[in-house]
Amino acid sequence: MQGEGFGVQARKGGAGMTGCTADDVAINPVTERDLPGLNRLTNDPAVARFLDLAPPVAFDRTVDFYRYIRAQWGAWWAIRVGEELAGSVGLIPADPSSRLGHTASLFIYLDPAWWGRGLGRRAVEAMVEEAGRRGLVRLEVLVVDGNERSLRLFFACGFESEGRRRDGFLGDDGLCDLIQLALILP
Ligand SMILES: CC(C)(COP(=O)(O)OP(=O)(O)OC[C@H]1O[C@@H](n2cnc3c(N)ncnc32)[C@H](O)[C@@H]1OP(=O)(O)O)[C@@H](O)C(=O)NCCC(=O)NCCS
Repeated sequence: MQGEGFGVQARKGGAGMTGCTADDVAINPVTERDLPGLNRLTNDPAVARFLDLAPPVAFDRTVDFYRYIRAQWGAWWAIRVGEELAGSVGLIPADPSSRLGHTASLFIYLDPAWWGRGLGRRAVEAMVEEAGRRGLVRLEVLVVDGNERSLRLFFACGFESEGRRRDGFLGDDGLCDLIQLALILP
């Protein structure tokens, strides 16, 4: 199925959830009202050090990305705890008319205030389910070498390492490798 996605109310009782109840969590499509908060997150140094977007990220760029995702039939979902925007997760699909059309790249970032509470796990699981509904076969993610939290999250969600893109990332401290992970959907 293609489309913007309909989002999920996070399931009860996931691993590692502390500080907020499962019933507080909703993962559903980003709206224009979310864009300022998401732009702020991509400019947060603790988040940005692991993203390919290099700060300062202009607000217009966030708006362009929002339009791009809609035009490409991708998915961009907000991760919400009550009224609070905790982060976002999404899929950037390959050209569906190409021989890569069964694949998509997955991205995720959270406000550091919400790290380590299981929200990342819930969001990735929700996006993997969405990818399955869309008939995608392969999800890819590139993780900066040393981003242990992210690696642990994706391994826990069934992704496997396929190798390294050596010196593929220009980080705050210089060049480093990117680890390519992928999940083949059943
Ligand atoms: C990566 C990110 C999305 C993870 O989200 P999160 O909500 O913290 O993830 P979770 O709470 O679900 O935990 C993920 C795993 O990391 C583990 N973890 C927690 N702190 C850790 C640490 N300091 N080092 C390594 N692993 C850690 C958790 O225990 C959990 O593993 P488990 O399920 O085996 O217990 C979040 O840290 C983030 O937004 N980082 C910045 C942007 C980023 O790196 N995005 C990914 C780019 S590929």
